[in-house]
Amino acid sequence: MDSEKSKKFVTGGETDGGITSSYATGDGVKLKVPYSFFGSIYDEAEEKAVLAAMKQDTLTMGPKTAEFQKKFAAMCGCKHALAVSNCTTGMHVAVQLFDIKAGDEVIVTPNTFIATSLVILKEGAKPVYADIDPRTYNIDPKCVEKLVTKKTKAIFVVHYAGLMVDMDPIMEIARKHNLYVLEDCAHAHNAEYKGRKAGTIGDIGVFSFHSLKNMTTCGEGGMITTNDDNFAKGAEMLRCMNLSHWSPDDKRWQFGSITKEKESKLDYWIPSHFDGTDWNGHWGNNYRMNEIQAAVGCCQVDKAEIITEKRRAIGHRLSAGLKGIKGITPVYEPEECKHVFHLYTICVEEDVLGASRDEFMRVLYQEEGIQTILHYQPTYHFAGLKKMGYQQDGLCPNAEKFFYKRQTNLPMHPRLTDNDVDTMVQGIRNAAEKVRRNK
Ligand SMILES: Cc1ncc(COP(=O)(O)O)c(C=O)c1O
Repeated sequence: MDSEKSKKFVTGGETDGGITSSYATGDGVKLKVPYSFFGSIYDEAEEKAVLAAMKQDTLTMGPKTAEFQKKFAAMCGCKHALAVSNCTTGMHVAVQLFDIKAGDEVIVTPNTFIATSLVILKEGAKPVYADIDPRTYNIDPKCVEKLVTKKTKAIFVVHYAGLMVDMDPIMEIARKHNLYVLEDCAHAHNAEYKGRKAGTIGDIGVFSFHSLKNMTTCGEGGMITTNDDNFAKGAEMLRCMNLSHWSPDDKRWQFGSITKEKESKLDYWIPSHFDGTDWNGHWGNNYRMNEIQAAVGCCQVDKAEIITEKRRAIGHRLSAGLKGIKGITPVYEPEECKHVFHLYTICVEEDVLGASRDEFMRVLYQEEGIQTILHYQPTYHFAGLKKMGYQQDGLCPNAEKFFYKRQTNLPMHPRLTDNDVDTMVQGIRNAAEKVRRNK
Protein backbone atom coordinates (compact mmCIF):
# COMPACT_ATOMS: atom_id res chain seq x y z
CA MET A 1 0.00 0.00 0.00
CA ASP A 2 1.46 3.41 -0.91
CA SER A 3 2.10 5.90 1.84
CA GLU A 4 -0.56 8.37 0.61
CA LYS A 5 -3.20 5.68 0.81
CA SER A 6 -2.09 4.42 4.21
CA LYS A 7 -1.96 8.02 5.52
CA LYS A 8 -5.54 8.52 4.41
CA PHE A 9 -6.65 5.54 6.51
CA VAL A 10 -5.03 7.01 9.60
CA THR A 11 -5.98 10.65 9.38
CA GLY A 12 -8.90 10.80 6.95
CA GLY A 13 -12.40 12.15 7.52
CA GLU A 14 -15.58 10.16 7.99
CA THR A 15 -15.98 9.14 4.36
CA ASP A 16 -12.49 8.02 3.46
CA GLY A 17 -11.60 5.41 6.02
CA GLY A 18 -11.00 7.59 9.07
CA ILE A 19 -12.54 7.26 12.51
CA THR A 20 -16.27 6.69 12.24
CA SER A 21 -17.00 5.25 15.66
CA SER A 22 -18.34 6.86 18.79
CA TYR A 23 -14.77 7.17 20.04
CA ALA A 24 -14.41 10.17 17.68
CA THR A 25 -15.39 12.57 20.41
CA GLY A 26 -15.70 15.80 18.46
CA ASP A 27 -14.29 17.73 21.41
CA GLY A 28 -11.80 19.77 19.41
CA VAL A 29 -8.75 17.76 20.47
CA LYS A 30 -6.27 17.61 17.60
CA LEU A 31 -5.19 13.99 17.32
CA LYS A 32 -1.73 13.04 16.12
CA VAL A 33 -2.42 9.29 16.30
CA PRO A 34 -6.11 8.34 16.60
CA TYR A 35 -7.38 4.89 17.50
CA SER A 36 -8.38 3.03 14.35
CA PHE A 37 -11.26 0.56 14.11
CA PHE A 38 -9.93 -1.18 10.99
CA GLY A 39 -7.38 -3.79 12.00
CA SER A 40 -6.09 -4.96 8.64
CA ILE A 41 -4.97 -3.88 5.18
CA TYR A 42 -7.17 -4.01 2.09
CA ASP A 43 -6.10 -3.28 -1.46
CA GLU A 44 -7.09 -4.13 -5.02
CA ALA A 45 -7.06 -7.88 -4.24
CA GLU A 46 -9.99 -7.59 -1.80
CA GLU A 47 -11.83 -5.13 -4.07
CA LYS A 48 -11.58 -7.50 -7.05
CA ALA A 49 -12.51 -10.52 -4.93
CA VAL A 50 -15.69 -8.82 -3.67
CA LEU A 51 -16.86 -7.92 -7.17
CA ALA A 52 -16.09 -11.40 -8.51
CA ALA A 53 -17.94 -13.11 -5.65
CA MET A 54 -20.96 -10.86 -6.25
CA LYS A 55 -21.22 -12.30 -9.75
CA GLN A 56 -21.41 -15.90 -8.50
CA ASP A 57 -24.63 -17.87 -8.68
CA THR A 58 -24.24 -18.93 -5.04
CA LEU A 59 -23.74 -16.12 -2.57
CA THR A 60 -23.44 -18.22 0.57
CA MET A 61 -21.72 -21.52 1.49
CA GLY A 62 -20.25 -21.83 -1.99
CA PRO A 63 -16.78 -22.24 -3.49
CA LYS A 64 -15.22 -19.23 -1.73
CA THR A 65 -16.29 -20.48 1.70
CA ALA A 66 -14.75 -23.87 0.90
CA GLU A 67 -11.53 -22.20 -0.31
CA PHE A 68 -11.31 -19.88 2.70
CA GLN A 69 -11.75 -22.81 5.11
CA LYS A 70 -9.06 -24.82 3.36
CA LYS A 71 -6.62 -21.92 3.34
CA PHE A 72 -7.30 -21.03 6.96
CA ALA A 73 -6.82 -24.64 8.14
CA ALA A 74 -3.51 -24.74 6.25
CA MET A 75 -2.44 -21.43 7.80
CA CYS A 76 -3.12 -22.74 11.32
CA GLY A 77 -1.89 -26.26 10.65
CA CYS A 78 -5.11 -27.91 11.82
CA LYS A 79 -7.39 -30.53 10.30
CA HIS A 80 -10.65 -28.62 10.05
CA ALA A 81 -11.71 -24.97 9.70
CA LEU A 82 -15.40 -24.01 9.49
CA ALA A 83 -16.44 -20.49 8.61
CA VAL A 84 -19.20 -18.88 10.69
CA SER A 85 -20.92 -15.51 10.93
CA ASN A 86 -18.70 -14.28 13.80
CA CYS A 87 -16.64 -15.46 16.76
CA THR A 88 -19.57 -15.29 19.18
CA THR A 89 -21.72 -17.63 17.10
CA GLY A 90 -18.69 -19.92 16.57
CA MET A 91 -18.18 -20.10 20.34
CA HIS A 92 -21.88 -20.82 20.81
CA VAL A 93 -21.49 -23.79 18.46
CA ALA A 94 -18.54 -24.94 20.62
CA VAL A 95 -20.71 -24.67 23.76
CA GLN A 96 -23.33 -26.87 22.07
CA LEU A 97 -20.68 -29.37 20.94
CA PHE A 98 -19.31 -29.59 24.49
CA ASP A 99 -22.93 -30.12 25.65
CA ILE A 100 -22.63 -27.30 28.18
CA LYS A 101 -25.98 -26.65 29.82
CA ALA A 102 -27.77 -25.51 32.98
CA GLY A 103 -25.97 -26.74 36.07
CA ASP A 104 -22.56 -26.84 34.40
CA GLU A 105 -19.67 -24.53 35.25
CA VAL A 106 -17.08 -23.14 32.85
CA ILE A 107 -13.85 -21.59 34.11
CA VAL A 108 -13.13 -18.44 32.12
CA THR A 109 -11.03 -15.28 32.18
CA PRO A 110 -12.73 -12.03 33.20
CA ASN A 111 -10.31 -10.05 30.99
CA THR A 112 -12.19 -10.46 27.72
CA PHE A 113 -15.00 -9.12 25.62
CA ILE A 114 -18.39 -10.12 27.04
CA ALA A 115 -18.89 -12.63 24.18
CA THR A 116 -16.71 -15.26 25.88
CA SER A 117 -19.10 -15.41 28.85
CA LEU A 118 -22.28 -14.71 26.86
CA VAL A 119 -22.17 -18.07 25.11
CA ILE A 120 -21.94 -19.84 28.48
CA LEU A 121 -24.78 -17.77 29.97
CA LYS A 122 -26.92 -18.32 26.87
CA GLU A 123 -27.14 -22.04 27.61
CA GLY A 124 -27.88 -21.47 31.30
CA ALA A 125 -24.43 -22.53 32.52
CA LYS A 126 -22.30 -20.59 34.99
CA PRO A 127 -19.08 -18.73 34.15
CA VAL A 128 -16.56 -19.12 36.99
CA TYR A 129 -13.89 -16.43 36.84
CA ALA A 130 -10.19 -17.22 37.28
CA ASP A 131 -7.83 -14.31 37.84
CA ILE A 132 -5.22 -13.19 35.34
CA ASP A 133 -1.44 -13.14 35.46
CA PRO A 134 -0.42 -9.49 36.08
CA ARG A 135 2.40 -9.74 33.53
CA THR A 136 0.71 -11.47 30.56
CA TYR A 137 -2.89 -10.36 31.36
CA ASN A 138 -3.94 -13.91 30.42
CA ILE A 139 -5.81 -16.41 32.62
CA ASP A 140 -3.47 -17.75 35.30
CA PRO A 141 -3.37 -21.59 35.29
CA LYS A 142 -2.65 -21.58 39.04
CA CYS A 143 -6.00 -19.86 39.63
CA VAL A 144 -7.81 -22.25 37.27
CA GLU A 145 -6.89 -25.46 39.11
CA LYS A 146 -8.34 -24.15 42.40
CA LEU A 147 -11.74 -23.51 40.81
CA VAL A 148 -12.39 -26.98 39.40
CA THR A 149 -15.46 -28.64 40.94
CA LYS A 150 -17.64 -31.65 40.05
CA LYS A 151 -19.74 -29.29 37.94
CA THR A 152 -16.86 -27.97 35.81
CA LYS A 153 -17.25 -28.95 32.18
CA ALA A 154 -14.72 -26.77 30.36
CA ILE A 155 -12.03 -24.12 30.51
CA PHE A 156 -12.36 -21.15 28.14
CA VAL A 157 -9.10 -19.27 27.55
CA VAL A 158 -8.56 -16.03 25.63
CA HIS A 159 -5.21 -15.23 24.07
CA TYR A 160 -5.45 -11.60 25.18
CA ALA A 161 -3.98 -8.99 22.83
CA GLY A 162 -2.36 -11.68 20.67
CA LEU A 163 -0.20 -13.34 23.33
CA MET A 164 -1.07 -16.99 23.81
CA VAL A 165 -2.06 -18.36 27.21
CA ASP A 166 0.38 -20.72 28.94
CA MET A 167 -1.37 -23.72 27.38
CA ASP A 168 0.66 -26.66 28.79
CA PRO A 169 -0.60 -26.34 32.37
CA ILE A 170 -4.12 -25.58 31.10
CA MET A 171 -4.15 -28.78 29.03
CA GLU A 172 -2.73 -30.73 31.98
CA ILE A 173 -5.56 -29.53 34.25
CA ALA A 174 -8.09 -30.34 31.51
CA ARG A 175 -6.74 -33.87 31.04
CA LYS A 176 -6.59 -34.49 34.79
CA HIS A 177 -10.22 -33.46 35.32
CA ASN A 178 -11.63 -34.54 31.95
CA LEU A 179 -12.55 -31.01 30.82
CA TYR A 180 -12.94 -29.49 27.37
CA VAL A 181 -10.76 -26.53 26.38
CA LEU A 182 -11.96 -23.72 24.13
CA GLU A 183 -9.43 -21.22 22.78
CA ASP A 184 -11.00 -17.83 22.09
CA CYS A 185 -8.60 -16.76 19.34
CA ALA A 186 -10.32 -13.46 18.50
CA HIS A 187 -6.99 -11.63 19.03
CA ALA A 188 -4.62 -14.37 18.01
CA HIS A 189 -4.49 -15.04 14.26
CA ASN A 190 -1.08 -16.63 13.65
CA ALA A 191 0.03 -16.31 17.29
CA GLU A 192 2.26 -19.14 18.52
CA TYR A 193 3.04 -20.97 21.76
CA LYS A 194 6.07 -23.28 21.72
CA GLY A 195 5.83 -23.45 17.93
CA ARG A 196 2.10 -24.31 17.89
CA LYS A 197 -0.46 -21.94 16.46
CA ALA A 198 -3.47 -20.52 18.30
CA GLY A 199 -6.59 -22.61 17.75
CA THR A 200 -4.78 -25.94 17.48
CA ILE A 201 -4.06 -26.88 21.11
CA GLY A 202 -7.47 -26.93 22.82
CA ASP A 203 -10.41 -29.05 21.61
CA ILE A 204 -11.81 -26.14 19.60
CA GLY A 205 -10.50 -22.69 18.62
CA VAL A 206 -12.66 -19.82 17.41
CA PHE A 207 -11.41 -16.75 15.55
CA SER A 208 -13.02 -13.37 14.86
CA PHE A 209 -12.86 -11.37 11.64
CA HIS A 210 -14.54 -8.31 13.18
CA SER A 211 -13.45 -4.91 11.84
CA LEU A 212 -10.83 -4.40 14.58
CA LYS A 213 -9.21 -7.79 14.25
CA ASN A 214 -5.87 -8.70 12.65
CA MET A 215 -7.76 -10.17 9.68
CA THR A 216 -11.24 -8.97 8.78
CA THR A 217 -13.92 -10.18 6.38
CA CYS A 218 -15.68 -6.85 5.73
CA GLY A 219 -16.28 -6.11 9.41
CA GLU A 220 -17.84 -9.38 10.63
CA GLY A 221 -16.98 -13.07 10.40
CA GLY A 222 -15.58 -16.02 12.32
CA MET A 223 -13.84 -19.39 11.99
CA ILE A 224 -13.98 -22.55 14.08
CA THR A 225 -10.82 -24.70 14.10
CA THR A 226 -10.49 -28.25 15.40
CA ASN A 227 -8.54 -31.46 14.87
CA ASP A 228 -11.51 -33.55 16.00
CA ASP A 229 -13.54 -35.10 13.16
CA ASN A 230 -16.67 -35.47 15.25
CA PHE A 231 -16.62 -31.82 16.40
CA ALA A 232 -16.08 -30.76 12.77
CA LYS A 233 -19.10 -32.78 11.69
CA GLY A 234 -21.20 -31.32 14.51
CA ALA A 235 -20.04 -27.76 13.80
CA GLU A 236 -20.95 -28.18 10.14
CA MET A 237 -24.48 -29.11 11.17
CA LEU A 238 -24.96 -26.65 14.01
CA ARG A 239 -23.85 -23.63 11.99
CA CYS A 240 -26.36 -24.48 9.27
CA MET A 241 -29.76 -25.57 10.65
CA ASN A 242 -28.59 -29.10 11.52
CA LEU A 243 -29.15 -30.16 7.94
CA SER A 244 -28.07 -33.45 6.48
CA HIS A 245 -28.33 -34.68 2.89
CA TRP A 246 -29.54 -37.94 1.37
CA SER A 247 -26.83 -40.28 0.23
CA PRO A 248 -28.24 -42.71 -2.37
CA ASP A 249 -25.25 -45.05 -2.15
CA ASP A 250 -25.49 -45.79 1.54
CA LYS A 251 -29.25 -45.12 1.64
CA ARG A 252 -28.94 -42.79 4.62
CA TRP A 253 -28.89 -39.14 5.47
CA GLN A 254 -25.37 -37.81 5.66
CA PHE A 255 -23.98 -34.62 7.06
CA GLY A 256 -22.29 -32.06 4.87
CA SER A 257 -22.30 -31.76 1.16
CA ILE A 258 -22.57 -34.55 -1.38
CA THR A 259 -19.37 -35.29 -3.27
CA LYS A 260 -19.19 -34.66 -7.02
CA GLU A 261 -18.80 -38.37 -7.65
CA LYS A 262 -21.94 -39.23 -5.72
CA GLU A 263 -23.82 -36.29 -7.23
CA SER A 264 -23.27 -37.63 -10.76
CA LYS A 265 -25.24 -40.76 -9.86
CA LEU A 266 -28.27 -38.83 -8.58
CA ASP A 267 -31.39 -37.55 -10.27
CA TYR A 268 -30.91 -33.82 -10.35
CA TRP A 269 -33.64 -33.08 -7.83
CA ILE A 270 -32.36 -35.45 -5.15
CA PRO A 271 -29.49 -33.27 -3.82
CA SER A 272 -32.01 -30.64 -2.90
CA HIS A 273 -33.46 -33.03 -0.35
CA PHE A 274 -32.34 -32.63 3.18
CA ASP A 275 -33.21 -33.77 6.63
CA GLY A 276 -32.84 -32.12 10.01
CA THR A 277 -32.25 -33.58 13.43
CA ASP A 278 -30.68 -32.57 16.71
CA TRP A 279 -26.98 -32.89 17.45
CA ASN A 280 -26.66 -34.56 20.82
CA GLY A 281 -29.87 -32.81 21.90
CA HIS A 282 -28.91 -29.43 20.44
CA TRP A 283 -30.79 -27.71 17.64
CA GLY A 284 -29.14 -25.84 14.81
CA ASN A 285 -28.61 -22.21 13.94
CA ASN A 286 -28.04 -20.05 10.92
CA TYR A 287 -24.48 -18.97 11.63
CA ARG A 288 -23.26 -19.02 8.01
CA MET A 289 -20.70 -16.73 6.40
CA ASN A 290 -21.49 -15.30 2.97
CA GLU A 291 -19.38 -15.72 -0.15
CA ILE A 292 -18.31 -12.07 -0.34
CA GLN A 293 -16.86 -12.24 3.15
CA ALA A 294 -15.20 -15.57 2.36
CA ALA A 295 -13.67 -14.16 -0.84
CA VAL A 296 -12.16 -11.32 1.21
CA GLY A 297 -11.05 -13.89 3.79
CA CYS A 298 -9.07 -15.76 1.11
CA CYS A 299 -7.18 -12.51 0.28
CA GLN A 300 -6.60 -11.88 3.99
CA VAL A 301 -5.02 -15.33 4.41
CA ASP A 302 -2.73 -14.50 1.48
CA LYS A 303 -1.68 -11.35 3.36
CA ALA A 304 -1.64 -12.89 6.83
CA GLU A 305 2.11 -13.24 7.05
CA ILE A 306 2.73 -9.64 5.92
CA ILE A 307 0.07 -8.29 8.30
CA THR A 308 1.47 -10.30 11.21
CA GLU A 309 5.03 -9.19 10.53
CA LYS A 310 3.95 -5.53 10.24
CA ARG A 311 2.16 -5.73 13.60
CA ARG A 312 5.14 -7.45 15.18
CA ALA A 313 7.56 -4.84 13.81
CA ILE A 314 5.34 -2.03 15.14
CA GLY A 315 4.98 -3.81 18.51
CA HIS A 316 8.71 -4.32 18.85
CA ARG A 317 9.49 -0.72 17.83
CA LEU A 318 7.03 0.49 20.49
CA SER A 319 8.56 -1.79 23.14
CA ALA A 320 12.08 -0.58 22.33
CA GLY A 321 10.96 3.06 22.49
CA LEU A 322 9.06 2.67 25.76
CA LYS A 323 11.86 0.85 27.57
CA GLY A 324 13.07 2.87 30.49
CA ILE A 325 10.13 5.29 30.80
CA LYS A 326 9.64 5.14 34.56
CA GLY A 327 6.15 4.05 35.56
CA ILE A 328 5.18 2.72 32.11
CA THR A 329 5.27 -1.05 31.54
CA PRO A 330 5.53 -2.11 27.90
CA VAL A 331 4.24 -5.41 26.47
CA TYR A 332 5.78 -8.62 27.81
CA GLU A 333 6.60 -11.30 25.23
CA PRO A 334 7.81 -14.57 26.76
CA GLU A 335 10.53 -16.52 24.89
CA GLU A 336 8.22 -19.41 23.95
CA CYS A 337 5.52 -17.17 22.42
CA LYS A 338 5.04 -15.29 19.18
CA HIS A 339 2.95 -12.24 20.10
CA VAL A 340 0.86 -10.91 17.21
CA PHE A 341 0.07 -7.53 18.82
CA HIS A 342 -3.67 -7.33 18.20
CA LEU A 343 -3.51 -4.78 21.01
CA TYR A 344 -0.54 -2.93 22.39
CA THR A 345 -1.40 -2.62 26.10
CA ILE A 346 0.76 -0.42 28.28
CA CYS A 347 0.41 -0.40 32.04
CA VAL A 348 0.71 2.72 34.13
CA GLU A 349 2.23 1.81 37.49
CA GLU A 350 0.77 4.52 39.69
CA ASP A 351 3.21 4.02 42.58
CA VAL A 352 6.22 4.41 40.30
CA LEU A 353 4.84 7.17 38.06
CA GLY A 354 3.46 9.26 40.90
CA ALA A 355 0.17 9.83 39.05
CA SER A 356 -2.90 7.76 38.24
CA ARG A 357 -3.59 5.97 34.96
CA ASP A 358 -6.52 8.31 34.30
CA GLU A 359 -4.43 11.46 34.82
CA PHE A 360 -1.81 10.06 32.45
CA MET A 361 -4.40 9.07 29.80
CA ARG A 362 -6.01 12.50 29.95
CA VAL A 363 -2.73 14.32 29.31
CA LEU A 364 -1.72 11.80 26.64
CA TYR A 365 -4.99 12.48 24.81
CA GLN A 366 -5.55 16.19 25.36
CA GLU A 367 -1.99 17.49 25.19
CA GLU A 368 -0.14 14.87 23.16
CA GLY A 369 -2.93 13.86 20.72
CA ILE A 370 -2.58 10.10 21.31
CA GLN A 371 -5.93 8.36 21.66
CA THR A 372 -5.90 5.25 23.84
CA ILE A 373 -8.80 3.03 24.95
CA LEU A 374 -9.52 0.45 27.65
CA HIS A 375 -10.04 -3.32 27.28
CA TYR A 376 -11.63 -5.08 29.30
CA GLN A 377 -13.85 -4.38 32.28
CA PRO A 378 -13.99 -7.65 34.31
CA THR A 379 -17.01 -9.46 32.86
CA TYR A 380 -18.61 -10.04 36.28
CA HIS A 381 -18.96 -6.25 36.67
CA PHE A 382 -21.61 -6.06 33.94
CA ALA A 383 -25.08 -5.31 35.31
CA GLY A 384 -26.54 -8.71 34.40
CA LEU A 385 -23.82 -10.61 36.20
CA LYS A 386 -23.92 -8.26 39.15
CA LYS A 387 -27.63 -9.13 39.39
CA MET A 388 -26.69 -12.82 39.43
CA GLY A 389 -24.77 -12.20 42.65
CA TYR A 390 -21.15 -12.32 41.56
CA GLN A 391 -18.82 -10.85 44.19
CA GLN A 392 -17.95 -7.36 42.92
CA ASP A 393 -14.86 -6.51 44.90
CA GLY A 394 -11.79 -8.71 44.95
CA LEU A 395 -13.12 -11.71 43.00
CA CYS A 396 -10.16 -11.41 40.60
CA PRO A 397 -7.91 -8.70 42.11
CA ASN A 398 -5.36 -8.69 39.28
CA ALA A 399 -8.06 -8.29 36.61
CA GLU A 400 -9.74 -5.50 38.61
CA LYS A 401 -6.50 -3.59 39.14
CA PHE A 402 -5.54 -4.14 35.51
CA PHE A 403 -8.74 -2.56 34.17
CA TYR A 404 -9.41 0.19 36.69
CA LYS A 405 -5.88 1.26 37.59
CA ARG A 406 -3.19 0.06 35.22
CA GLN A 407 -3.92 -0.48 31.56
CA THR A 408 -4.59 1.43 28.39
CA ASN A 409 -4.30 0.44 24.74
CA LEU A 410 -2.37 2.36 22.12
CA PRO A 411 -3.53 2.73 18.52
CA MET A 412 -2.40 -0.52 16.87
CA HIS A 413 -2.93 -1.61 13.28
CA PRO A 414 -0.64 -2.64 10.43
CA ARG A 415 -0.91 0.69 8.56
CA LEU A 416 0.89 2.66 11.26
CA THR A 417 4.09 4.27 9.99
CA ASP A 418 7.42 4.50 11.84
CA ASN A 419 6.61 8.17 12.29
CA ASP A 420 3.28 7.28 13.98
CA VAL A 421 5.08 4.89 16.32
CA ASP A 422 7.77 7.42 17.20
CA THR A 423 5.08 10.07 17.78
CA MET A 424 3.34 7.72 20.22
CA VAL A 425 6.56 6.97 22.09
CA GLN A 426 7.41 10.67 22.37
CA GLY A 427 3.84 11.48 23.45
CA ILE A 428 3.97 8.82 26.18
CA ARG A 429 7.38 10.08 27.36
CA ASN A 430 6.08 13.69 27.45
CA ALA A 431 2.82 12.76 29.21
CA ALA A 432 4.70 10.73 31.85
CA GLU A 433 7.04 13.69 32.48
CA LYS A 434 4.13 16.15 32.70
CA VAL A 435 2.07 14.17 35.19
CA ARG A 436 5.18 13.44 37.23
CA ARG A 437 5.95 17.16 37.41
CA ASN A 438 2.42 17.91 38.53
CA LYS A 439 3.00 15.92 41.68
C1 LIG B 1 -11.70 -11.70 23.05
C2 LIG B 1 -12.90 -11.62 22.15
N1 LIG B 1 -13.73 -12.68 22.08
C3 LIG B 1 -14.81 -12.66 21.28
C4 LIG B 1 -15.13 -11.57 20.52
C5 LIG B 1 -16.37 -11.59 19.68
O1 LIG B 1 -16.05 -11.58 18.33
P1 LIG B 1 -17.19 -11.32 17.23
O2 LIG B 1 -17.48 -9.86 17.21
O3 LIG B 1 -16.57 -11.80 15.96
O4 LIG B 1 -18.35 -12.13 17.62
C6 LIG B 1 -14.29 -10.45 20.55
C7 LIG B 1 -14.62 -9.27 19.73
O5 LIG B 1 -14.34 -8.16 19.98
C8 LIG B 1 -13.16 -10.47 21.38
O6 LIG B 1 -12.34 -9.42 21.46
